[in-house]
Amino acid sequence: MGLPAYLIKSSSALKPTTLLRHLRFMSNVPENTVYGGPKPQNPHQRVTLTHLKQKHKKGDPITVVTAYDYPSAVHLDTAGIDVCLVGDSAAMVVHGHDTTLPISLDEMLVHCRAVARGAKRPLLVGDLPFGTYESSSNQAVDTAVRILKEGGMDAIKLEGGSASRITAAKAIVEAGIAVMGHVGLTPQAISVLGGFRPQGKNIASAVKVVETALALQEAGCFSVVLECVPAPVAAAATSALKIPTIGIGAGPFCSGQVLVYHDLLGMMQHPNHAKVTPKFCKQYAHVGDVINKALVEYKEEVANGSFPGPAHSPYKISETEINGFMSELQKLGLDKAAASTAAAAEKIKIKKSEITEDQSVGASLKAKPEIASTFEIKMRFEGKLLR
Ligand code: KIV
Repeated sequence: MGLPAYLIKSSSALKPTTLLRHLRFMSNVPENTVYGGPKPQNPHQRVTLTHLKQKHKKGDPITVVTAYDYPSAVHLDTAGIDVCLVGDSAAMVVHGHDTTLPISLDEMLVHCRAVARGAKRPLLVGDLPFGTYESSSNQAVDTAVRILKEGGMDAIKLEGGSASRITAAKAIVEAGIAVMGHVGLTPQAISVLGGFRPQGKNIASAVKVVETALALQEAGCFSVVLECVPAPVAAAATSALKIPTIGIGAGPFCSGQVLVYHDLLGMMQHPNHAKVTPKFCKQYAHVGDVINKALVEYKEEVANGSFPGPAHSPYKISETEINGFMSELQKLGLDKAAASTAAAAEKIKIKKSEITEDQSVGASLKAKPEIASTFEIKMRFEGKLLR
């Protein structure tokens, strides 16, 4: 970016300090935008609605995954996922509820903020939770504003396509907030749907899916989630709409796909698992098995005293300090503690000489002479001795 004309003309007249101040200011102005927005943005990196539109135009599938906390958000970001959805599915996969209904707006905001800290590149979409937008358009706008202002999201998602829901979507868009619609199986409506049931399986229901999606597009939504509908119905909606459709259990003919983080990772290994992992979900990993194995191994190693061993007891204290420490303990009348200190230090010394003899790890100790020359104490090294 070159200097603006007014600076070029007058730069010779400006004092160097004034020119520097101008240049520093300019470096903070995002290119191609009028205002910078609430977050420092790199317009070439952050996924925006414009990027999604371009992808859709080119026929490139849009990738969406849910995230609920900082680590899941970082993983999505690192993997290059386009859209990060802070779904109200958090109620089920994070909070352990049977449905999405119980999660509150305040709980959702905690998830949104954590995700916003972790995902810098994906477009961030926050779900409006059940009971926070159905009463009126004003209520819907107020909730959407909080999701952006307090949750750090870029857009919101709302479920359903009744007349009042379409009006609410329109009002939110008019308030300057991008809206993702959601039709087909809308889990917040299980009370009227009679459970987690696929939709669009008969003529009337299939037509309703397409008509509702069209109405959401008309209201200004930038995309629509199609959940649990037959693939031909999703294909019809995708063809009828100008905006992208994002399928979940809706087959391959959508503009993009979304899956729930825990489901795609094969993470849930608790009794609710069978209930909350839908059959359309492909498990790309069995992370739950890995987690279980690690936890059982940890439990066993703590129980048999092999963890923490020398490699995980890194904090050292010199022989001089340990002697001074023991005499302070004795002055305090803590003779038993002083004896335990001495015993632990001795034990570690013995262990270390054993390790030095050991060919397998001896080489690494010799490579670190400071470990061998320093008199170490690892306070919890031999738990049994200290107790
Ligand atoms: O809450 C959620 O995770 C969702 C997806 C299933 C689309 O709405």
